[in-house]
Amino acid sequence: MQVIIFDNAQDVAESAAEWVAELVNKKPNPVLGLATGSTPISLYSALVNKYKADQISFKQTTTFNLDEYLGIEETNKQSYRHFMNENLFDHVDIDKDKTFLPTCNQGENPRKQGLAYEDKIADAGGIDLQILGIGANGHIGFNEPTSSLASRTRIKTLSQQTLNDNSRLFAADEFQPTLAMTMGIATILDARYVLLMATGKNKAKAVKDMVSGALSAACPASALQQHENAVILLDKEAASELEDQEYYVWANMQNQKVNKEFGLYHNY
Ligand code: GLP
Repeated sequence: MQVIIFDNAQDVAESAAEWVAELVNKKPNPVLGLATGSTPISLYSALVNKYKADQISFKQTTTFNLDEYLGIEETNKQSYRHFMNENLFDHVDIDKDKTFLPTCNQGENPRKQGLAYEDKIADAGGIDLQILGIGANGHIGFNEPTSSLASRTRIKTLSQQTLNDNSRLFAADEFQPTLAMTMGIATILDARYVLLMATGKNKAKAVKDMVSGALSAACPASALQQHENAVILLDKEAASELEDQEYYVWANMQNQKVNKEFGLYHNY
């Protein structure tokens, strides 16, 4: 795991945007894995700014989102499709026919639909770079604690903590889904690179468990310890419970020296 600590959340977003730009501008037909939640909103606005400044084009890009609520239509303002349109797709030159979310049509077998999503990712050549946030309980996507570390795209029941955390986004009289279709942990681990963004004090404990806790389904994000190319972008608050902060700062300085001498090389 490469842990990089930034002064603030905006620097986390700018760094994540650089990673995306590096992939999208260099690789033909890049495949991006995308996340929702409050954390990546500033990444998407940085990408929209880059697009407006002619620094990036998404024409050749295919995207796969981590998750989507069950039981609400795409047109519902709470759907993750709506979130992606609002925050990114409507503002850049992406072909929406190449943007996918793990939706689940009513009346169709959800297991089959989950596996079909896996096939679609494989047909696109696999995910080059997967953007992730992290839940305060250590979830990634909607893989709640106790999710199998070998899981694939399927329906998950949201935990009470996640429902409480996300209730701030729903009006009192609005339906809040309790089920979602989500990429599994094994699906996420298949991505060539994983870029997890975490900001704010309320993520500090989950970040500590992910980075230096036991590899355990109790903290699904800890599965990233087994990923070859997992990069963790943190602001100071999210990093505040890490014991080895000085080491991460030192290691990052060393990495920058190596990058300066040899250039960046991502094995997409
Ligand atoms: C949501 C999403 C996750 C996200 C997490 C944290 O429920 N399913 O993909 O990473 O919870 O969200 P936030 O960034 O709003 O804290």
